[in-house]
Amino acid sequence: MRETIVAGNWKMNTTIADAMAIVGGVLRRNDEFGRVKVIFLPPSIWLVPIKERYRSAMLGAQNIYSHLRGPYTGELSVEMLHAIAKYVLVGHSERRTVFGEDHALINAKLKTVLQANLRPILAVGEEAKLNIGKKEKRDILALVKKSELGRSLVSATRGLSHSQWSKMVLAYEPVWAIGSGQAASGNYANSIIGALRAMVVQLANDKVATNIPILYGGSVSRYTAPDFAQFENIDGVLVGNASLRVAEFSNIIETFALARARRKNENSA
Ligand code: 13P
Repeated sequence: MRETIVAGNWKMNTTIADAMAIVGGVLRRNDEFGRVKVIFLPPSIWLVPIKERYRSAMLGAQNIYSHLRGPYTGELSVEMLHAIAKYVLVGHSERRTVFGEDHALINAKLKTVLQANLRPILAVGEEAKLNIGKKEKRDILALVKKSELGRSLVSATRGLSHSQWSKMVLAYEPVWAIGSGQAASGNYANSIIGALRAMVVQLANDKVATNIPILYGGSVSRYTAPDFAQFENIDGVLVGNASLRVAEFSNIIETFALARARRKNENSA
């Protein structure tokens, strides 16, 4: 069974007090962690104090630079993350649009993360909703492949070995759904994620595609999470705003833990 992951991208939010309260609160409220991998992506300045206080918290960085050290004012290197964070978010649409990150830089960052033995969470997503209507699977695949969504997956992962691919987590984050309060429907996300998984067969191989966790992100809340959790192809969520609220984030974790438990029972029945 593939991993189930619920990750919280806090973006540029929280004070140190908020950071401790969120991580502490979520860890206390959830005994579901055996089944669901919970990853916190706080602002990088809070990574060390969180790790010092909560050894068991699984942490990721929201950004790194593609070089290991040197004259890059304001940047953070993968070498600085060792023993603190295991995951790094790469390719988020806010990095692409606000900070002008292009395909080449995203590809370089991805390789730097993998070479450091950290796991990238690669985010890809389309600017405007794709018109998948009632199209067949193979037509959706063709549509995704020629869209900017498909092209950004291809260029971000150019030159990866199969063993590097096997460390990746993908996050499908439609740009129009991020921060808009308009999440994609579970059906839509499931269809696109199916197409992305089919692309991974072609870019890597069957085994990688079967095992790679693909998350959905974009206005996930306690209300929209169940719509995603019902699909076996959607391996979890990357949550923005709602990950800043302990009760709500915990509720989303629980939704995925229950869905996973249900699926496991069905598979073993
Ligand atoms: P929201 O959940 O706030 O829409 O943000 C999603 C996101 O960008 C996660 O990386």
